[in-house]
Amino acid sequence: MTDSPWWKKSTVYQVYPRSFCDSNGDGIGDLPGILCHLDHIQRLGADVIWLNPIYASPNDDNGYDISDYRAIMPEFGTMADFDALLREAHRRGIRILMDLVVNHTSDEHPWFREARKGKDNPFRDYYIWREGKNGGPPNNWGSAFGGPAWAQTEEGGEYYLHLFSPKQPDLNWDNPAVRREVHSLMRFWLDKGVDGFRMDVINYISKDPALPDGPLKGRWGDFAPFCVNGPRLHEYLREMRREVLRPYRVMTVGETPGVTVRDACLITSPDRGELDMVFQFEHMSLDEGERGKWCLDPIPLPALKETLSRWQTGLHGKGWNSLYWNNHDQPRIVSRLGDDSSEEKRTASAKMLGALLHMMQGTPFVYQGEELGMTNTPLPGIGDYRDIDTLNAWREWTLEGRLSPEEMLRLIRRRSRDNARTPMQWTGETHAGFTSGVPWLPVNPNHVFLNAARQIDDPDSVFSFYRKLICLRRTLEIVTEGDYRLLLEDHPLLFAYERRWRGEVLTVLCSFSSSLLAEPAAAPLLRGRELLCNYPPAEDPLVFRPYEARILLSGDTAAE
Ligand code: GLC
Ligand code: CA
Repeated sequence: MTDSPWWKKSTVYQVYPRSFCDSNGDGIGDLPGILCHLDHIQRLGADVIWLNPIYASPNDDNGYDISDYRAIMPEFGTMADFDALLREAHRRGIRILMDLVVNHTSDEHPWFREARKGKDNPFRDYYIWREGKNGGPPNNWGSAFGGPAWAQTEEGGEYYLHLFSPKQPDLNWDNPAVRREVHSLMRFWLDKGVDGFRMDVINYISKDPALPDGPLKGRWGDFAPFCVNGPRLHEYLREMRREVLRPYRVMTVGETPGVTVRDACLITSPDRGELDMVFQFEHMSLDEGERGKWCLDPIPLPALKETLSRWQTGLHGKGWNSLYWNNHDQPRIVSRLGDDSSEEKRTASAKMLGALLHMMQGTPFVYQGEELGMTNTPLPGIGDYRDIDTLNAWREWTLEGRLSPEEMLRLIRRRSRDNARTPMQWTGETHAGFTSGVPWLPVNPNHVFLNAARQIDDPDSVFSFYRKLICLRRTLEIVTEGDYRLLLEDHPLLFAYERRWRGEVLTVLCSFSSSLLAEPAAAPLLRGRELLCNYPPAEDPLVFRPYEARILLSGDTAAE
């Protein structure tokens, strides 16, 4: 055996603590709640947990605005609760990744409280300050959550940069003291025994110091050309590996919006000593339009095939992919790319999407509830939404009269991040067994039939199917090591590919058709033994049932 790193065979389960399980009835999920449900994660077969931020935070952006990197958010519990969770997870052979949010802090972090005191404060240079221009901000950049990317702490004073909310001031990574602080807080968690980090918008940390105006994108200038994959990014990542990560056997995954295959190769190529893998966003952006994500367009299958295939072949042998359909920032995949119009279709399409992704090369991430095929949750009115991005967009698009409230609510119901953040559906009882109190965000009414209790012992459930997929990855080397080739490239409804490794061929065929699909062209591909299918054996193997997925394994006898 090679000394292949452990995370190549792992499957990560993402826990959004606020919505996973509430142990004390305050309506907010917490660390003891996660501890009680480790069985669920273990049963699924995931061997790593990524926890969304659990640090002290005023929660302007649900924990992505941190005021103390070494303290637990009181709503989530105590450091003793964290230590107990880590100990118990490790006892079960489950590793834990922490969210590392160091592009920005909270404006309530002591560094910023000091920095805002004035130009001479020793912490001033921990952040990015500039004089205004022509009675306005230093440049035309808009923030990722709407509005300008600059704010003042006092009228007439300098402006500070915030690529997200004004309560999330960007750190100045060009200041070596900032980098030392980040290294030291990373060591704090590593020395506790955590198994790695998911690094929030880590490719935004290096900014072009000239901070020039950006090309107009709607009302504001785009910061991306000057902040995304900026001039010193690779230097800072290598320094982090050298100064902090090297002695630990941990895993790192960078959240990197806007990366290309080439950027990802640079960041994840093992000999460059940066990160182990990144989250790329190309496949998640295929349904964006003029208003960015606020549109109803579907993800087009041809573009999805092209994109995912390009990532598979582009990183093979050079870097490493992460594989994901969902996270706390994306609407639910079964409502987005699958079909939640009936129970049969929901179940079949959720499994099909799982098969399509999990047989690719990379480390799969399963977001809580995805293993049940949880759907979007269209909330009754705008007053029920909590996500800062959603609420800002509502204000920006409706108050300025660019969209009617009805139109905007329709878009929000499809695309809001709160779709993924409604509570985990454990049971069919009140509040889905998530809390005995009032949940911080409403529970999806479909929990009465769509819940973990109904699925874990049912061999035909989405949960059981995901479990089999995760097991295949662990047992078949071809899934982690094989190369990738797209099949039936121009087929409008089938996404098919093969993986080859040491004389074996793994073939994956997925139908995106909501009705029966007869496909004689698939005949030569139906070789070998069927490992998994989301339907009982077919009468006619050339007819695919709605959202059918088949995984086959054969010896490589075909002469090319
Ligand atoms: C990342 C997080 C998202 C957060 C943003 C700012 O994209 O995943 O939830 O709002 O960074 O920290
Ligand atoms: Ca609680």
